[in-house]
Amino acid sequence: MPHSARDRLIVALDMPSLDEATRLVAKLGDSVTFYKVGLELLFAGGLDLAQSLRASGKHVFLDMKLLDISHTVERAVANASELGLNFLTVHGHDLKTLKAAVAGRGTSKLKLLAVTVLTNLGQDDLRLHGTTLSPAELVLRRAKMAHDAGFDGVISSGQEAAKIRETIGPGFLIVTPGIRLEGSTMDDQERVTTPESAISSGADYVVVGRPITQSGDPKASAESFVHHIREARRKTTRA
Ligand code: C5P
Repeated sequence: MPHSARDRLIVALDMPSLDEATRLVAKLGDSVTFYKVGLELLFAGGLDLAQSLRASGKHVFLDMKLLDISHTVERAVANASELGLNFLTVHGHDLKTLKAAVAGRGTSKLKLLAVTVLTNLGQDDLRLHGTTLSPAELVLRRAKMAHDAGFDGVISSGQEAAKIRETIGPGFLIVTPGIRLEGSTMDDQERVTTPESAISSGADYVVVGRPITQSGDPKASAESFVHHIREARRKTTRA
């Protein structure tokens, strides 16, 4: 578990090239201790960067959002476990996939997080999938399933964090993307929250991409998010 507000900010390196990602990491310097490497950067050398970030002492979240048949997920997670990274995501749609991921992880320290319902999806998108559950109900159902399967935590929006914390209790990680400061642009996100709201609802980490990566001064933006996380933790007496 992290100890400082700074360690609770995860910056999503959603960049088109390794050069741009490397330049951003250099600009952010000591302001950021935790990075997320996702699908965009993966296809531009992101795995090498993930390992070099880890070697330089940063924490790394590999956001692969795996979803496949059990055998394939198990073998993929087994290989990912060898990389020495910190977090890996798997889509939390079904118990078989989740259990396969836990089996693949074996005794490695890699923490497995289930993606509940993507934060760019709203009620209308779920209806198109054929589900009548609300995003919040589906998130909670999937969070319980991930917990039962032996996952370390979930990815959920800040809007669902409180219910997950209340239902599952402490110790289960809640990692929250879709984070925006008051009054800023939502981009393609639907279920956004402020860092204060996510943290006070029980989130352990917030994931921030564009508000930092596309800022004119990324280091100052990162510091501003750290400040908001610290303040929220102080107010909820969990600092
Ligand atoms: O730029 P922005 O702050 O919206 O980036 C959010 C990041 O979190 C992206 O990398 C996105 O893939 C990821 N994410 C998300 N919703 C989820 C899971 C991951 O937005 N449910």
